[in-house]
Amino acid sequence: EHAKRKIICADILDFLDDPSIAGDDAVRYFEQGALVIDQGKVLDLGAEKDIVAKYADITEVVRHDGKLLVPGLIDTHIHLPQTEMIGSHGEQLLTWLTEYAFPTEKKFADHAYAADISKRFLDELLRNGTTTAMVFGTVHPESVDAFFTEAQQRRMRMIAGKVLMDRNCPEDLADTPELGYSQSKALIEKWHNVDRLAYAVTPRFAPTSSHEQLAACKQLLDEYPDVYMQSHLSENIEECEWVDKLFPASDDYLGAYEDAGLVRKRAVFAHGIHLSERELISLAKHQAALSHCPTSNLFLGSGLFNLKACEKHKVTVGMGTDVGAGTSFSLLQTGSEAYKIQQLQGENFTAFKGLYLATLGGARALDLEGSIGNFTPGCEADFVILDHHATPFLSFRLQHAKTLHERLFAIMMLGDDRCIEHTYVLGDCIYQRDAQPQFASS
Ligand code: GUN
Ligand code: ZN
Repeated sequence: EHAKRKIICADILDFLDDPSIAGDDAVRYFEQGALVIDQGKVLDLGAEKDIVAKYADITEVVRHDGKLLVPGLIDTHIHLPQTEMIGSHGEQLLTWLTEYAFPTEKKFADHAYAADISKRFLDELLRNGTTTAMVFGTVHPESVDAFFTEAQQRRMRMIAGKVLMDRNCPEDLADTPELGYSQSKALIEKWHNVDRLAYAVTPRFAPTSSHEQLAACKQLLDEYPDVYMQSHLSENIEECEWVDKLFPASDDYLGAYEDAGLVRKRAVFAHGIHLSERELISLAKHQAALSHCPTSNLFLGSGLFNLKACEKHKVTVGMGTDVGAGTSFSLLQTGSEAYKIQQLQGENFTAFKGLYLATLGGARALDLEGSIGNFTPGCEADFVILDHHATPFLSFRLQHAKTLHERLFAIMMLGDDRCIEHTYVLGDCIYQRDAQPQFASS
């Protein structure tokens, strides 16, 4: 029994609440802290001297002295099939989809191809300290089957779904309301709540689903009430104007999803840049969440996310990389771009807010608080060791950081996968920067 217990020593930081609402009380920090893990879950947390005295019987002690230990990072919006076309030049959303995203996604009809990309994708998440993600597959059920198979082997907490789209897309990427329904249902039956995996019904966005298909999505969610829903919302001005034309009877963009019955708890909408006050109020009322995707929003020239309005209206927000419109798998880099987006609007954004959004905020957006996102006893022990000596320059810069916030802010602005020294899943280290990855891709 005790062999399954271990103590991890490091400087430990996590969040008990949103620091921009709850203030400094939301930030919990133990310099020379210790985390006690029992069978992959958090048993206790405190100052090292207290923990070592209290758990004198635990013999396995892992030391990461002087390093910062934070909860595993949570990416609330990312596209598996866009891994290979990240950084494709020159277009805004609708042209970018046609020119780059759709042609790449066609390759995922092949299970072997989907399995290869899934391996690389999950390796890359771990290299970046991301332990949970909400993932778009393609329209092919093979993409999700392959992805869940790989995620299950790594024992990672993952949410994913096959895309539903039955109009305004290439014919060989289209399903139908019936096929989208039956394929999604089969994947739910096979994968939902298996180990740490969960399914998300995934209509790509309102323009690519008929009213009948959106109705089929609602039917799935009614049949499986704890299944997730993920889609895109109000990302690009042209897209918004298109939705107004396609859904003339709905109040606005969110209204199109609302009228289909898809705005609910466990629904996560990526972007949400050009939203009215009515839409924000409705998101909060229905307990749906937004995924803020800064690198994508800047890359596609989509616009500036209004985080302050979300705070005002109590809309739950997580962060997403939105690879491959997003330009980085790193949630540190994503936090850095989130800061700049707030700067352009004259708003404050602290490193605490950034790391909150990448941990507990993400857990809340995915309705997983209590399972992941911080080190409350009983939480699954997914965490990351940040190395602030990752490069000579970072090491030099950090010597000049006096407070915890300065240290964290510099890591967020300057850091990326190079700063992720170790990634732990369920208390076991499954990625070590300076070693061969456990799941090496060919
Ligand atoms: N809207 C609909 N599909 C997509 C996509 O693949 N990426 C982004 N960024 N927005 C979308
Ligand atoms: Zn997206």
